[in-house]
Amino acid sequence: MIEVGIEKIGFYTPEQYVSMEDLADARGIDPNKFLIGIGQAEMAVPTIDMDIVAMAANACEQIIDEADKQLIDQVIFATESSFDYSKAGATYLHEMLGIQPFAKVFEIKQACYGGTAGIQMACDYVRLRPNRKVLVVMSDISKYGLNTGGEPTQGAGAVAVLVSAEPKVLAIDLESTSLSFQSFDFWRPQYSKVALVEGHYSTELYLDLFEHVVQEVQAQRPNVWEQIDALYFHLPFTKMGKKALDRLLAKGLLDEERYASLLAHYESSAKLGRRVGNIYTGSLYLSFLSGLVYDEKLQAGDHVGLFSYGSGAVGEFLTGTLHEGAFTQAIRDKTLQQFEQRQAISVATYEEIYQDTLPETGVWQNESSSQQPKGYYLAEIDKHRRRYGYN
Ligand code: HMG
Repeated sequence: MIEVGIEKIGFYTPEQYVSMEDLADARGIDPNKFLIGIGQAEMAVPTIDMDIVAMAANACEQIIDEADKQLIDQVIFATESSFDYSKAGATYLHEMLGIQPFAKVFEIKQACYGGTAGIQMACDYVRLRPNRKVLVVMSDISKYGLNTGGEPTQGAGAVAVLVSAEPKVLAIDLESTSLSFQSFDFWRPQYSKVALVEGHYSTELYLDLFEHVVQEVQAQRPNVWEQIDALYFHLPFTKMGKKALDRLLAKGLLDEERYASLLAHYESSAKLGRRVGNIYTGSLYLSFLSGLVYDEKLQAGDHVGLFSYGSGAVGEFLTGTLHEGAFTQAIRDKTLQQFEQRQAISVATYEEIYQDTLPETGVWQNESSSQQPKGYYLAEIDKHRRRYGYN
């Protein structure tokens, strides 16, 4: 069977962040609760002109070239922060990026799991048409509200992956293990601007689904489980991955030696998420990217496992093999440059940005006195139609 998977991966996060120490001070909470207890150090803050489409376009722009644009047959946009009930974010991207006209474009949703659903669909499509490519982009802004329990786990960003039969970064195996369970751990009714969440229950449910999925992998494909060198997690906050590994150890699903080795890899994979926050659909792939950037023990040929979780709830365990392209300097440079250029903002500025909303009149002009973001940004809304600019 031909290999398919991730040929290229790109990431975008907004240009401002708030430090979790400052946020803890402002909320009258011991900073160690956020820094250690939850495992977050910084939180990305998107201005009003950096919506999910602008972030997605900025992530895609990093990875697709003119030749790719002619070969892309589908643009799959995974999000749970959509601003339109009908029109897919992918329709804008198709035009903004200049993808060939005969491509299909659509949006996909199942909480944080949506990105994995898109990648799996893309892999299946390419397995049948190995000379074509699919662009999958995951873009989200997570919002729980000011001064809520979920606030320190907010974030914003987009991850784009180009799926093809030249998986220079990660070849994804055909077999995977998934599990679904109808629940109200986290959801967002159409009338609510913020997510509703049963925080502690959601964390337990994540761990339960993970444990059951791993048991199933061990039962059905023991040789695959034994070969895994590194594990990546959906990280709503970075302590979550540590909790997941601890659960396996406590249940005897990992021995001490393997636990220590996976924990070392996990620490590298949590570094970027710790500085961005939860980006929902893209969060697992941000952890994967973080591993590529920071994990010096990884090498081409290593087998990796990826645990995707989306509230509501679906868990899926994917496996794959790293290829040479995962270790290019360009991936590291493009990712880290963004963090070097980010600007720290005060909690007061974050709160102002947070409360900024677009008018429902359908008319808005970007007259931001501060400099507009680099790359794509929302330039105006005219008769309820969003238009994007480029800096
Ligand atoms: P909370 O009640 O604010 O915090 O909620 P807590 O009291 O549970 O404390 C958190 C941790 O900090 C605890 O550690 C404390 O001991 C520790 P743990 O027992 O968990 O290991 N702590 C301290 N540590 C050091 N020094 C201190 C200190 N004080 C306390 N001084 C919660 C935390 C995560 C529940 C909340 O932030 C929340 O509701 N977040 C949003 C929901 C969420 O992220 N759920 C995760 C699983 S569901 C999921 O991943 C799906 C999702 O991404 C959505 C989707 O699928 O679309 C969310």
